[in-house]
Amino acid sequence: MTHQLTNITKSENKDLVIEELTPKQIVKELDKYIIGQDKAKKMVAIALRNRWRRQQVEESLRDEIMPNNIILIGPTGVGKTEISRRLAKLVKAPFVKVEASKFTEVGYVGRDVESIIRDLMEIGVQMVREEKKAALVGKATENAIERILDILLPPISRQQKPVGELSENDDLELRHMRTREKLREQLINGKLDERIIEVDVQSDGTPMMQIFSPLGIEEMGMNIQEMFSGMMPKKSKKRRTTVSEALKILTQQEAQKLIDMDEVTRVAIARVQESGIVFLDEIDKIAGGSSGKSGPDVSREGVQRDLLPVVEGTSVTTKYGIVKTDHILFVASGAFHVSKPSDLIPELQGRFPIRVELTSLNENDFIRILTEPKNALIIQYKALLNSEEVELKFTKDAICEIAKTAAMVNTRSENIGARRLHTILSTLLEEILYEIPENKIKKYKIDGKDVTEKLDSVVKDEDLSRYIL
Ligand SMILES: Nc1ncnc2c1ncn2[C@@H]1O[C@H](COP(=O)(O)OP(=O)(O)OP(=O)(O)O)[C@@H](O)[C@H]1O
Ligand SMILES: [Mg+2]
Repeated sequence: MTHQLTNITKSENKDLVIEELTPKQIVKELDKYIIGQDKAKKMVAIALRNRWRRQQVEESLRDEIMPNNIILIGPTGVGKTEISRRLAKLVKAPFVKVEASKFTEVGYVGRDVESIIRDLMEIGVQMVREEKKAALVGKATENAIERILDILLPPISRQQKPVGELSENDDLELRHMRTREKLREQLINGKLDERIIEVDVQSDGTPMMQIFSPLGIEEMGMNIQEMFSGMMPKKSKKRRTTVSEALKILTQQEAQKLIDMDEVTRVAIARVQESGIVFLDEIDKIAGGSSGKSGPDVSREGVQRDLLPVVEGTSVTTKYGIVKTDHILFVASGAFHVSKPSDLIPELQGRFPIRVELTSLNENDFIRILTEPKNALIIQYKALLNSEEVELKFTKDAICEIAKTAAMVNTRSENIGARRLHTILSTLLEEILYEIPENKIKKYKIDGKDVTEKLDSVVKDEDLSRYIL
């Protein structure tokens, strides 16, 4: 393997990764993973593109343009979370997902919702740091190579040099330099990869120490763990390893040294503010049923009130600095079985101007979900069995039969959407997954009949199916 000194000076000016995909392109990407739900895909795509559009608007007007916060409404297991997750991956925006209901749980009550923004900021910093590190890899590799050369051929120190006879001294230095250059060439060409050397590795230095942060500590916007690790002397340890491994370790170390954390922080704050996405799952669970009651509703409404400023735009203190939330995109989602969006406090409703309903999934959708997405379940199981060198095949009518069963069970007991496919497939494949590899069978072909035979007894027995499928 040759160790390339790659484009070091490729000036990366894409600090603000703003959505550059057009709405149609976004939908096309989402189509690779999510079947149907066209309306929802379209709306999130528009919301995203609008943020990019906003970036192009002249400054005075730009700040007036608010994000198109969205509520995704739909039964469980129809792709609400999936859409948001894919979206965030797509645009490389800092993304966090929280269950809104978590703030009403015992142990969380009173925990301040601003921690969502702190988490988002943490993710933003991590993201930018990795990018900057990647951009520094060329320079870091150069430095690492110098360090390895120093180990392989320690520099001549002054004392070693005989004083006086100049010519000999120069000669020595010259020879040394030549050897070093030769070694460098060999090193870059991977000729020394297997050689063993000793390098200093820094362990993190933080001794085993768990910090249980009670409420409040994180509000101070500091990280005790980090404070301590800064105070402890960094332990460095000698480790024997191959040159190629050492190069990796030292490149990491050098990149860490070269990175400008102030810049990372600055970029991360900007990115979080301009392109962060917060996904508030289970928002329906904090919509108080009938108002005016005491009890849990109080805390639910409390959470809504707490959320209000964060969604509306406020400044949150994080350990990296102040983050303004005005333009962070909030996507809320909920099944809204018992409650309705109108049960949310009006101020919060107003902050989510876009409502999209997701449809429940039918048999045809299931057929497509089983096979079409890049990460489709059938593909996943095939890959799993492939690890044991077993080939798994489903005939077309097997797929149809699975979809039909899923749809039927969904109507008969609870409708859990596409999640039903998971339970059905795992019941269907249980035996195969268990018997492999001892049974030495290398090929399985599952047809419609196999599916009915395997599932019929469970499906017919309503009680049984309620528990198993
Ligand atoms: N339309 C769809 N296309 C492809 N896969 C889907 C679709 N809907 C759901 N799934 C799959 O079903 C599982 C559950 O979906 P998801 O997590 O999006 O549900 P949800 O709508 O958020 O439900 P909940 O209200 O319970 O949170 C995921 O594994 C997802 O891949
Ligand atoms: Mg969900």
